[in-house]
Amino acid sequence: MSDLLLDIKNLTVSFVTDDGVIQAVNDLSFSVGRGETVALVGESGAGKSVSAMSVPRLVPMPPARIDKGQIFFKGKDLLTQDVKDMRKVRGREIGVIFQDPGTALSPLHRIGWQMMEAILAHRTLNDDEARKLAESWLSRVKIPDPAQRMNAYPFQLSGGMQQRVMIAMALINEPELIIADEPTTALDVTLQAQIFDIIREMKGKDSAMLLITHDMGVVYDICDRVLVMYAAELVEEGPTETVFENPAHPYTMGLLQSIPTLGKGRSKRLDSIKGQVPSPFNLPHGCRFHDRCPRAFDRCAKEKPGFVDISENHRAACFLLGDRGTRP
Ligand SMILES: Nc1ncnc2c1ncn2[C@@H]1O[C@H](COP(=O)(O)OP(=O)(O)OP(=O)(O)O)[C@@H](O)[C@H]1O
Ligand code: SF4
Ligand SMILES: [Mg+2]
Repeated sequence: MSDLLLDIKNLTVSFVTDDGVIQAVNDLSFSVGRGETVALVGESGAGKSVSAMSVPRLVPMPPARIDKGQIFFKGKDLLTQDVKDMRKVRGREIGVIFQDPGTALSPLHRIGWQMMEAILAHRTLNDDEARKLAESWLSRVKIPDPAQRMNAYPFQLSGGMQQRVMIAMALINEPELIIADEPTTALDVTLQAQIFDIIREMKGKDSAMLLITHDMGVVYDICDRVLVMYAAELVEEGPTETVFENPAHPYTMGLLQSIPTLGKGRSKRLDSIKGQVPSPFNLPHGCRFHDRCPRAFDRCAKEKPGFVDISENHRAACFLLGDRGTRP
């Protein structure tokens, strides 16, 4: 991982709401190397989307605020860039695939126009060249009759087709980093598999991807490394195979136990860990997982475990691993 593309250091993000302050991400540090595919997993509310969307600065501020941290992308801290510079980065160097195509596609414009806008915002091409490029990407994501579809409005396309258009738009400028936030959750299972095949095919060898998914089958199939988040914090990270074969944190063990057949086909959603995700207004002291952890002991409710290195690039924060580690 010497050639770092993204290097997040101690990122801490809160939301200021009428009911109080929510800590969405706490002291998160991780990096993504060029060409790597890295999964971000954890239950609903763990802070996955806020972490990932902080990179292209797509978390709305307010209500969000960055309390601490740095997000180095190609060596520059994105948190210190001005709006104009960020616009250049988004859609060009960083492409974002959302769960819901409605987030990225405007209902008011034909898809051809939207795709050409995405191209022309970042490149000096004439209209004809941009149109040809847009059409070629529609055919790459297997949209039939691309020239004709360029005239369609999003509502005239099925959900699966809209998702494919959005993927084409996110990738059309060949970004170095792709952020995909549950890109297939809204689709049926067959379509999900097709979309992942398309993303895998489209993602150039040199571009990296940060993928949020609840589907551990997909993580196993396509991700080089996996990051596990619980209650706004990273609890384990490591190479996918290592983490799947040798999970070190009891929370990761719980997540993995919810997979019926490891590496074969698609798995069900992650829901087999007993108890409730803690309220973000009232996060537990000590290890945030202690009230659900089958292996918790006295110390866990009082002190916060630091990270312990287990093997190369594999680390987790749990007292069972010893107490050498310190955060992050
Ligand atoms: N706009 C917002 N206003 C207030 N709180 C928010 C907002 N967006 C997210 N949060 C809170 O931030 C925390 C992290 O949310 P986030 O969306 O990152 O979770 P997630 O891991 O992506 O969950 P999911 O799997 O459901 O998408 C949650 O407690 C959530 O309620
Ligand atoms: S530190 Fe304690 S509560 Fe937390 S995961 Fe480890 S054993 Fe469980
Ligand atoms: Mg999310």
